[in-house]
Amino acid sequence: MFKGNKLTRNFINLSDINKSQLTVILKRARDLKKYRQKKKSINTLKNINLAMIFEKPSTRTRVSFELAIKELGGRSVILDEASTHLSRGETISDTARVLSKYCNILMIRTTHHQKLLDYHKYSNLPVINGLSNVSHPCQILADIMAYNEKRGSIKNKSFVWMGDINNVLYSWIEAAKIFNFTLNICCPNIIKFPPAFIENIKISSKYIKISHNAMLASKNADCVITDTWFSMGKKPTRKLLQVFKPYQVNKKVMNLAKKSAVFMHCLPATRGNEVSSEVIDNEDSSIVWEEAENRLHVQKAILEWSLRKI
Ligand code: CP
Ligand code: NVA
Repeated sequence: MFKGNKLTRNFINLSDINKSQLTVILKRARDLKKYRQKKKSINTLKNINLAMIFEKPSTRTRVSFELAIKELGGRSVILDEASTHLSRGETISDTARVLSKYCNILMIRTTHHQKLLDYHKYSNLPVINGLSNVSHPCQILADIMAYNEKRGSIKNKSFVWMGDINNVLYSWIEAAKIFNFTLNICCPNIIKFPPAFIENIKISSKYIKISHNAMLASKNADCVITDTWFSMGKKPTRKLLQVFKPYQVNKKVMNLAKKSAVFMHCLPATRGNEVSSEVIDNEDSSIVWEEAENRLHVQKAILEWSLRKI
């Protein structure tokens, strides 16, 4: 685990950061949201240069980080792996050293989690995980902020994760232990948990349930979460579609949850697969647009926190 140095902090996994620091980030995000609504200008990151490296596609993460740094007075540079010398074999260690001469902070979306740590090692810059094959911590903070805004505290609530075992789930598992809520992972029996998950679930075991029946799992839930059945890089097959089908979040599932239950999805969504249109487009219970909006406010707070401005 790399936690940054005296002047900076990495934001790589939620479990690297203690609850009080995560609470500081969430509070700052709420304040920054209010300032933005009031059109108050904030210049806490004046002259800070953020480099963003994308090894996978992105809409929300890319736009929200780019606007976040700009709205705080800084600048961003975006590097798509394919259009840099990384695609021709220049090493991460050399790339990281070069970036450290121009930039103050890195945001990386990567296919290999280890690269987040390597970039930090060779650049000595703070590194933010903008999604890896293992986890997606920025997303979960934005989601918790959205839940807090709509339904109050997450403590002791009963959340259900429906569908695939993936990076977003990994960060939800960490969040369950940190913020003290129950997470019922409802997934097909044949989908196996990778070793990193088994360790993660062990650590959070008091807060985690695993089940395979969507109707039983959603009963009395405070929140139902899902994500694509085919994360970036995973090939959809007819067989997998059939395996996942009983785990679609539809009206039947939501009707079994509490009346006050909300639906969450990090997006992008595939309507008709992991979620039905009527659920994701239900203005009373779906909070997916709030989750997406909060990426901007949370990203700003994470940038400030990583640079020790808060
Ligand atoms: N939720 C999320 O990270 O979206 P993008 O892939 O569009 O960045
Ligand atoms: N699990 C998804 C999240 C996208 C934001 C993926 O990795 O593609």
